[in-house]
Amino acid sequence: GPVVGIVPAAGRGVRLGQELPKAFVELDGRTMLDRAVESMLDSGEVDRVVVVVPPELAATQPEQLVRAPFSERVSVVAGGAERADSVRAGLACASDARFVLVHDAARVLTPPGLFARVVAELRRGSDAVIPVLPVTDTIKSVDAQGAVTGTPDRASLRAVQTPQGFDVALLSRANTDAGDATDDAGLVERLGERVDTVAGDPLAFKITTPLDLVLARALLASGAR
Ligand code: CTP
Ligand code: MG
Repeated sequence: GPVVGIVPAAGRGVRLGQELPKAFVELDGRTMLDRAVESMLDSGEVDRVVVVVPPELAATQPEQLVRAPFSERVSVVAGGAERADSVRAGLACASDARFVLVHDAARVLTPPGLFARVVAELRRGSDAVIPVLPVTDTIKSVDAQGAVTGTPDRASLRAVQTPQGFDVALLSRANTDAGDATDDAGLVERLGERVDTVAGDPLAFKITTPLDLVLARALLASGAR
């Protein structure tokens, strides 16, 4: 079966603080969503992509989101209130898939090699694989009052990116009762199933805050794509 990309793009982008839903914010004349979807299809690792948009944009045609010929391999569905609801809507359009890659629209500069690493690990037999990076800051846990309750050993911590790759049956099973999970692999972990890691890439950073947007625009201006 094919490798199907699911791009959740139904979030509001509250932390970015722009008028438009975040995925529709432009960088150098092209939306985050356009850039993310094209990079996925252009990597050669993904057969088609399901884009999950805010419900009021559900009638949007693929050609309005992504340029040809990539638009021919794109379909559009309405998302839900939480990210996991949006992923579930995407999964409903991916029942023919062998593997799915769930990839945030906000990770616009993800290089092709990262899609390749994740798919290679799936083909090697992993049922769930995520890209990770070492953590550079010391991380602390705190209680409701903000008092520090612990300092986990940084050497055992990783920051998690997308694309996250899954056997489609496993993610479908994991996603059925998701709550407000921010990460698909966490749902697989909750089932007690193994999740593998591959090396992430700093360029796959997620545009979350205005500072991230400044960084992405500067990288594009200096020749990243
Ligand atoms: N997402 C989604 N459906 C939701 C919430 C989020 O499809 N109900 C998507 C976002 O569009 C984004 C990705 O999940 O591509 C990662 O989420 P995040 O970076 O948190 O984006 P937003 O939820 O839009 O941002 P914020 O949390 O700041 O509002
Ligand atoms: Mg969010």
